[in-house]
Amino acid sequence: MAEYVITIDGPSASGKTSVSRDVANAFGWRWVSTGAFYRGLAVVALKEKIDFDDESALVRLANSPIWSVEMNPNETTVMYSGQRINPEIALDDTGMYASKISQYPLVRQALLPLQRACANKNHVLIAEGRDCGTVVFPNALIKIYLTASSDSRAQRRSIENTGSFEMVRTLQEERDRSDEERTHAPLQIPDGAQVIDSSTMNRDQVVDNAKRLIRQEFSRRKLDALIR
Ligand code: DC
Repeated sequence: MAEYVITIDGPSASGKTSVSRDVANAFGWRWVSTGAFYRGLAVVALKEKIDFDDESALVRLANSPIWSVEMNPNETTVMYSGQRINPEIALDDTGMYASKISQYPLVRQALLPLQRACANKNHVLIAEGRDCGTVVFPNALIKIYLTASSDSRAQRRSIENTGSFEMVRTLQEERDRSDEERTHAPLQIPDGAQVIDSSTMNRDQVVDNAKRLIRQEFSRRKLDALIR
């Protein structure tokens, strides 16, 4: 069996994590959030008191066995010295630190083989992030770009995190800028991607949309047997 990967990329708070996870679980597939690699490395760097301006030290840490990432159906788990650190990787501040270290080409290069190793010939994988369809899995079977207006994304995030709408939107715009304007593997719509704008949809509608799109493509390629 060939390697079957579906990528879902998009800006922060576009809902790609929950949507990609729901679709993977509904179809009985594996799922990975590639942001967890950047978030995990950022948290571990803070704990290890690594200078965020020291790219070489961050690369050494990226390759260190002191931390690891595991795929699970409901979360991409980050382990550090035998402890699960997911509550910390989910924090908004961690997102900013992750975005900062994601600017470094050598850090990205170090994380790339770990992300690619999530694909495996015996399973379908849904990978979500910023550069999954462009860099990590350029030969993915289906590429989806999930987006929503800045206001609707900030609205959702401020309800989830109880921050003020203005504050959440300002931080989000800062992170969008940093992810879109970076030189290496910036956030962009991959060639051939199907774009879903979820500004006026709820989560179930987005999931249904993504599932429909994937079913159609699998049916066209006669791969229906891979859907649970
Ligand atoms: O999707 P997220 O919020 O968990 O991602 C956190 C940061 O990690 C994001 O702002 C940029 C970086 N990232 C990246 O550069 N490439 C990816 N494929 C995923 C995340």
